Amino acid sequence: MKKPLVVGNWKMYLESPEAATALCSALRRRAASFSGVALALAAPSPLLPATVTALKGSMIRAAAQGLSLYEAGAHTGEVSAAMLKNVGASLVLIGHSERRAGGESDEAVREQVTRARAAGLDIVLCVGEGQRDPNGEHFQFVAAQLASALDGLDASGAGALAIAYEPVWAIGKSAEEAARPADIEGMIILIRKILTERFGRPKAARIPILYGGSVDGSNAQALLAESGVSGFLVGRASTNLESLMEILKLCKK
Ligand code: 13P
Repeated sequence: MKKPLVVGNWKMYLESPEAATALCSALRRRAASFSGVALALAAPSPLLPATVTALKGSMIRAAAQGLSLYEAGAHTGEVSAAMLKNVGASLVLIGHSERRAGGESDEAVREQVTRARAAGLDIVLCVGEGQRDPNGEHFQFVAAQLASALDGLDASGAGALAIAYEPVWAIGKSAEEAARPADIEGMIILIRKILTERFGRPKAARIPILYGGSVDGSNAQALLAESGVSGFLVGRASTNLESLMEILKLCKK
């Protein structure tokens, strides 16, 4: 079985290169205690160079939190896939609900998928419903988000892909309010089925499906053991050394 994958999404919590460097260095010092877990850290663009430098030569990958849907040119404030690649990011989050809430459409997400692959970046594609529907419409919602984004990827892109299922209602809450294994099991099965239809069983089976939404040391173990996920996309808890270490150690077991 593949190693569990944990991706830390620092969002806008860390504010200085020094803070990013300190967290990366501390994690490196303790890397032996999570050797069975693959880890990536998604930094905001201004902190990426410091993060890349602090992680150089380690097994921890530096990731970006988003990218422009444009390739280059007159797009003030945008950050291109090539720029991310050139500063040393190897992975990028695409389609996070916090960006979709800011106006990113399914089309924009699909375009970013294409841009990221063209630049040679791996992708963590985020999907998730805003709320649960008693008639199960959230399944159709997530299936449509996924299908639309995957249209931006050719068959050879499967090896560069991870999916993060992040139900919006479970993000930024306490662990008690987070999704439980039984809440997400069905969605993980659906996502795996869609990937299998698209890429065939052998390739689809190797695509990690992560869960994100209020993961911490109190729920990580049950979610990993009982819901069929391959790891986590962790927000707030990834910005604190001890909280992240707790999750990583639970993933190792
Ligand atoms: P929290 O872990 O802070 O709920 O954030 C989840 C998330 O959105 C990760 O991308």
